[in-house]
Amino acid sequence: MTAPARWAPGTPDDAESGSSTRSALRNARWIRPAEPRVAPPGQRPAHLLRRTFAVDEQHLAGSARVLAHVTAHGVYEFFLNGVRVGDEELTPGFTAYRERLQVQSFDVTDLLVPGVNTAVALLSDGWFRGRHGFERRADGFGTRTGLLAALVATGPAGRRTLVATDDRWLSRSGHVTRADLMDGQAVDLRLLDTAWFTGGGEPAGWAPVLPAEDALTADRDRLVPAEGPPVRRVEELAPRAVTRPRPGSAVLDFGQNVNGWVRLSELGPAGTHLTLTHGESLGADGQVDTDHLRAFVFATGERLPAGQVDEVVSAGRPGEVFEPRHTTHGFRYAQVDGLPEGLDLSGARAVVVHSDLPRTGEFACSDERLNRLHEVVRWSFRGNACAVPTDCPQRERSGFTGDWQVFVATAALLHDVQVFSERWLRDLAADQWADGRIPTVVPNPAGNRPSGVAFEDASAGSAGWGDAAAIVPWELWRAYGDTGSLAEQVPAALRWVEYAASCAERARHPERAARRPVPAPHERYLWDTGFHFGEWLEPGVPPRPDPTADHGVVATAYLHRSALLTARLAAALGWHDVHERCSAIAAGARDAWQREYLTPGGRITEESQANYVRALAFGLVPRELRTAAADRLAELVRQAGGHLGTGFLATGALLPVLADTGHADLAHELLLDEGNPSWLGMLAAGATTVWEWWDGVGVDGGVRGSLNHYSKGAVASFLHTHVAGLRLPEDPGPAEAGYRRVRIAPVPSAHLTWARTVQDTRAGRLEVGWEVADGVLTLDVTLPCGTVADVELPDGTARRLDGGSHRLRCAHRPPGALAGRG
Ligand code: BGC
Repeated sequence: MTAPARWAPGTPDDAESGSSTRSALRNARWIRPAEPRVAPPGQRPAHLLRRTFAVDEQHLAGSARVLAHVTAHGVYEFFLNGVRVGDEELTPGFTAYRERLQVQSFDVTDLLVPGVNTAVALLSDGWFRGRHGFERRADGFGTRTGLLAALVATGPAGRRTLVATDDRWLSRSGHVTRADLMDGQAVDLRLLDTAWFTGGGEPAGWAPVLPAEDALTADRDRLVPAEGPPVRRVEELAPRAVTRPRPGSAVLDFGQNVNGWVRLSELGPAGTHLTLTHGESLGADGQVDTDHLRAFVFATGERLPAGQVDEVVSAGRPGEVFEPRHTTHGFRYAQVDGLPEGLDLSGARAVVVHSDLPRTGEFACSDERLNRLHEVVRWSFRGNACAVPTDCPQRERSGFTGDWQVFVATAALLHDVQVFSERWLRDLAADQWADGRIPTVVPNPAGNRPSGVAFEDASAGSAGWGDAAAIVPWELWRAYGDTGSLAEQVPAALRWVEYAASCAERARHPERAARRPVPAPHERYLWDTGFHFGEWLEPGVPPRPDPTADHGVVATAYLHRSALLTARLAAALGWHDVHERCSAIAAGARDAWQREYLTPGGRITEESQANYVRALAFGLVPRELRTAAADRLAELVRQAGGHLGTGFLATGALLPVLADTGHADLAHELLLDEGNPSWLGMLAAGATTVWEWWDGVGVDGGVRGSLNHYSKGAVASFLHTHVAGLRLPEDPGPAEAGYRRVRIAPVPSAHLTWARTVQDTRAGRLEVGWEVADGVLTLDVTLPCGTVADVELPDGTARRLDGGSHRLRCAHRPPGALAGRG
């Protein structure tokens, strides 16, 4: 096992279309390891599947190249003649496997030799059969793992399959004695024979593989070429500190909460058994504390173990390394137990593992705390971009729809998330229920139907979560301006909107029905029934999902929003019927929301910061009442002691709404607040990623929930769009989306002397930066050719700019400005 072979991106003839992928695998059979007894979930070993095969010298010489096309039910690593193929991790990735299974295509031309060759796959449960989600149920997609692979040579004489999975492959369990994405991985290096990878080793222990034939493996239509950047090992962190909380134990502090694993290069003498427990916080005794990461069984409340425990038993061979590539963990700390005297841990590394998404956007300003906040948000995103966008990398690591809905626009300011999100939207469409409901997590192990778990099924289709079906395509359209995938995405959005509209029309909340026995006409569009998470996790409100609660004020707002966005997307496609249908629903829901929840004076009948933010952000407040509503929002913030009070859904829009409605000073105050709850308060308490709960680490030092949820990090958008001032139009026209038209409107605050942002876009690079000196604000703008910017300077003057570099100036002396501070 030496250096990885290079990765071959798909090429038109070999891998770009589903049909060529399927055709490359036509000679391959699905096989599964001999596994007479299936161990309990979390305890299942990885299996090796191997085939030694001969390659004719002439064939090799006559081949331009050889591609290995590989996929699995489970997670696989592929080796050829002892070399790990490619540099991708956790292949084949996570998709709605019943509908779509990715196939990787690697260029292995340089790894083959004339004569005898050996192909080996190391196969573990992965998402397919391993534990997954809040309840950590296993066997989500099937009870057996499987492998499908073929090495195909192409040359002037055409294509030839050199080897493919079939009944001539052998399998065995080996050194990976357990591997699970949630529970962790155990490796006993004493069991490893490296000769296995080059065709040698004791023949005993190998058994013929079994055919893996069932309805799922028979369905080859679901095989698709791998889409978008793969998961990779992206960075390594050395420990910042090593402490010894008790004899035989060390705690490695990597200084940063990440997703990935720990690599150890000193394993001690043969038989040394090290246990690594990964976590985000330390207890009072200095040991890793994972108690706050423990989930529970919905029905019984029984608490589940936190998992994230790796083990390695040394074989005492020089150069041995432990690197568990069949699991990942969310951690800043790793506690190593079982240390023999004198074992040197200085070579330990946290290996950061995530989807290798190109960086596109940067932000910096004169206040280091805000720069740090931006970086912490980006780390949270990096910790939750592992094959799919996840809620958190430790407790569930699931593709929660609401989380991506809330964060996708921010993510698109940091990294290129287009294909990453489009892939996920295909899974969303695949998992959509027949009635249009969207499950709360995508990909969903239960697929496009109920799972049978009461809470999970009841919570499918929550407003703010299912709305990912419309909001994610919309944000992709604004950021990338690509109509290519819209035709695929809009049908799912439409079905979601129809579902929500039909819920609104069909039923009434029992309390409203009791109060108002005869329904008012607007109630046809009032969505006040069904389960909704609501605003979720406002400060001091612990998660208590209540299926009987009336969340109409949230759900009707989202019905309007999703219908409006679907209407706009349909317009971009020229789908007039859909546009009209959704516009009518949007108008009906807006009217219903206003009649039910808005007073003639611009007050919301169910007052909360979040409800005002949502109403103003979604355009639910008529123009003439916006000032009154915004003033009331500002008043609520003041009444809360000058602290924010929003939760999961509205936090990202809080500061933009305040700044856009005449309360820029308050927006900046909240941004800089260090009290509780606040973003900088989190940082002051040591956060290196964004917490799930505002009081993730309480004043008492107690830890609650996950410390790595990106949703509240949506505030980073404000740094780009308002502090630096580079914004996308709210409703771009077809020729304007994807940064071909932008609005540049910096909202400087008294305490900042400069800010700037850079964004690499489909249109080219945009740069916006401003600086204040001696009462003058200087704005520098660079636009790619073809991009038009509507500039609004803080003094109210407006200009239109075209491609090129521009410098504008205006007088600027904000009250309370301190020259040179920041
Ligand atoms: C997850 C969230 C999710 C929420 C509501 C939580 O357990 O971590 O981020 O959106 O449930 O479904």
